[in-house]
Amino acid sequence: MSMSRRRLLGHAAVATAALATLPALAGDKDQGKAIGPATATSTATPAAAPAATGGPFSLMALPYADTDLAPVISQGTIGFHYGKHHLGYVNKLNELVAGKDWEKKSLADCMKGTYGTDNVGIYNNSAQTWNHDFYWQSLKKAGGGACPTGKLADAIKAAFGDQAGFATELAKAATGQFGSGWAWLVAKDGKLSVAKTSNADNPVVLNVGTPLLVIDVWEHAYYLDYQNKRSDYVAAVIDKLLNWDFAIKNFG
Ligand SMILES: [Fe+2]
Repeated sequence: MSMSRRRLLGHAAVATAALATLPALAGDKDQGKAIGPATATSTATPAAAPAATGGPFSLMALPYADTDLAPVISQGTIGFHYGKHHLGYVNKLNELVAGKDWEKKSLADCMKGTYGTDNVGIYNNSAQTWNHDFYWQSLKKAGGGACPTGKLADAIKAAFGDQAGFATELAKAATGQFGSGWAWLVAKDGKLSVAKTSNADNPVVLNVGTPLLVIDVWEHAYYLDYQNKRSDYVAAVIDKLLNWDFAIKNFG
């Protein structure tokens, strides 16, 4: 059995394989420049992206000010999470691809092309860059609550019974992920599900559907604000920050 196959089977949380449509991201040099966040409701000046050390990949600009997500996510957490961790993935990726064919490829192609291979460094850092681009866009000031009426709201009702059912399932995945990882809302053939992934993995490389929203549950995402209370962080993000406009755009 190939390494890729073994890894896929190891992700029991994601149920079935499906063709993943890849939402474009700001850090993706082939796709992302035309794609920003679905909406940026804040009138505050978006946070400037710290400078990457150079190379084909850059740190996306946050679509809001670094104070906009407080008190759910503090400015201090964003300072470390975005300005240190996310930037660190970008810088490391640029370092690893230098002089190799990977530096000519898109961010998405780097993570998909190295998944399940021995090229673990490029995989981890490209996937983590992609995941964080997706995460920041999954949040917005004064977000959260119920999905606005429409096709996605109907799909939520069909999959989870109601909005509360969705919130319960997403929170269960986010709090139940053992160790570092991510909790996703995923669409496959118009049907929704929740998936959790470990470390840098995501629904795109696992080929289980199109990601619509994500919550980062690595400790660096919440420990400054919530310490060990991951469930409090998850509940607050679902209630106050999820960017339904981004999810609706990704659902298509
Ligand atoms: Fe993170």
